[in-house]
Amino acid sequence: MAAEALRPGRTALWVAAVALVAASGALAAGGFAGADPNKADPARIAATAPDPHALPFPVGYSRWTHIKSGLITSGHAAYPRFGGLHHIYANAIALDGYRSGRFADGSVLVYDLFETRDNGDATIDQGTRRHIDVMVKDSARFAATGGWGYAEFAAGERRDRLRTAQRDGCAACHASQKDNDQVFSRWREDSAAEPAPARRD
Ligand code: HEC
Repeated sequence: MAAEALRPGRTALWVAAVALVAASGALAAGGFAGADPNKADPARIAATAPDPHALPFPVGYSRWTHIKSGLITSGHAAYPRFGGLHHIYANAIALDGYRSGRFADGSVLVYDLFETRDNGDATIDQGTRRHIDVMVKDSARFAATGGWGYAEFAAGERRDRLRTAQRDGCAACHASQKDNDQVFSRWREDSAAEPAPARRD
């Protein structure tokens, strides 16, 4: 449903991207006069074509189950890309995975990342959103990356901005968690508001 709903928007973005490439090609060739957008360099258009591994925005994720929050501070190597306050959410299918360590196809996990704001009175607030990172389990489609597709959406954007090499970078680090199906976070009974759902098997 959500993927269907997104399709027209994605097409519109794609058309806009092609128009941009055509315009920048015309500029590089010496200006707009007489430029024919249909003659834009096909190689450059291919480079901006929608990524076949791109994922749809996980609509409604902030109402899913909150797994945990965490803070990455400036002393950590991951700070430039992932630093700040993050919250991890899981959809209903993924909850079983947190219990069993095997996530079924259709599981979706979201890492929602925010700046922090020091209020100057010894309190720190959640600041503006940086981006959201997403993992979607589809064993067949994403067999090459441990069964998970990886996506990233800039704050306020609904278009997956990752390129293939970046997806591989996500998967390479997450591969260290192969005993937990590539997922770092764990269900913690001591911090969860409610017990994890019972296994259905
Ligand atoms: C250098 C290692 C590393 C890289 C690279 C990395 N992650 Fe993660 N990721 C982590 C860690 C560690 C956590 C767990 C954070 C926590 O427990 O609070 C995590 C958590 C997540 C989660 C929540 C599910 C889980 O595994 O706990 C998602 C979704 C996620 N990352 C997506 C991505 C995406 C998308 C990329 C690539 C843009 C990416 N990650 C790159 C280390 C990494």
